[in-house]
Amino acid sequence: MKSALVLGAGGFIGGHLVKRLKKEGFWVRGVDLKFHEHAETHADDFVIGDLREQDFCRSIVDRGFDEVYQLAADMGGAGYIFTGEHDADIMHNSATINLNVADIAHKRNIKSTFYSSSACMYPAYNQEDPDNPNCKEESAYPAAPDSEYGWEKLFSERLFLSYNRNYGLRNRVARYHNIFGPEGTWDGGKEKAPAAICRKVARAKSGDAIEIWGDGLQTRSFLYVDECVEGTLRLIRSDCEVPVNIGSEEMVTINQLVDIVADISGKKIEKNHIPGPTGVRGRNSENTLIKEKLGWAPSQTLRSGLEKTYEWIEWQVRRNAA
Ligand code: NAD
Ligand code: GDD
Repeated sequence: MKSALVLGAGGFIGGHLVKRLKKEGFWVRGVDLKFHEHAETHADDFVIGDLREQDFCRSIVDRGFDEVYQLAADMGGAGYIFTGEHDADIMHNSATINLNVADIAHKRNIKSTFYSSSACMYPAYNQEDPDNPNCKEESAYPAAPDSEYGWEKLFSERLFLSYNRNYGLRNRVARYHNIFGPEGTWDGGKEKAPAAICRKVARAKSGDAIEIWGDGLQTRSFLYVDECVEGTLRLIRSDCEVPVNIGSEEMVTINQLVDIVADISGKKIEKNHIPGPTGVRGRNSENTLIKEKLGWAPSQTLRSGLEKTYEWIEWQVRRNAA
């Protein structure tokens, strides 16, 4: 039986990844600071601990794992990473985890490892035009991410690639573009736009206005979590040695995102644009390289993912209210 280690298994993508690996017949160990907040874990073994601690890291990365997924990070949406208030923690916590994991994976001769980077590592100067952002993988340099979160991701990509070059680690790097879906953070300050908008619409009455940060003309693409997991598995098992985007190419404005969610809810929703952390003006995945390297790219519509996500968040809102 194959075995996998999922670091950050108590989080959103990690939780979905564990489920998928179990369906594939893997024996899975999940590791996190906490249990999953929104679902029972499907892992065979779930270890609570702090990956910033070297000794703890040593204790959970066994020699025999076929696949190790490094998803643990100090992360959140625009309200967490663009305010500047958490910069030191974000950089220290995530870099320390990655320094520990890369080194231990090498020393334990792990056959295949995966690191989850982010589209936030792309230069801000290529994301000023909302209609034409450039997030091709080759556009990463000269580096100029617009957040410390993005700088840490770039550093850690380079860290894992160095272990590949110098020690023959077989690590793969994905640059995720705003992943959404059920069982993700939907409240509390770390949630991203799709979950925040679903929550606001679910709490609104028809005819109400909901608050939107900025003028709503900033653009993004959002990828449903099942396709993120699919791409992750295809990438770790591929011979692709360079970082690749895992994201959707269906770019929308935040106002359009609100309109889709409102339509799904069946409510008439007005928009109240307020000042808030907005990040780059435009961002979209560019999928030429993933098609070339993996012969695959995400294809689901934003609307189909939002239908499932809205249903789940509406249920959370009703449950909380009760
Ligand atoms: P998440 O916050 O839901 O999951 C991350 C998990 O890491 C959390 O459960 C957290 O408790 C755990 N963690 C943090 N510090 C830890 C520590 N010291 N020891 C052990 N566990 C620790 O985030 P997610 O959305 O599931 O993202 C997973 C990965 O993908 C992260 O590295 C994130 O930066 C990256 N990513 C996510 C997105 C997205 O849109 N969700 C986009 C780009 C990149
Ligand atoms: N979170 C949130 N909440 N965003 C809102 C809201 C709201 O209520 N209203 C409008 N927005 C706007 C933000 O201002 C931003 O311009 C846009 O929606 C997208 O915000 P997020 O989804 O929070 O983050 P992001 O796309 O800027 O960055 C995310 O994606 C990266 C990968 O592409 C973050 O989750 C990063 O952690 C991630 O790496």
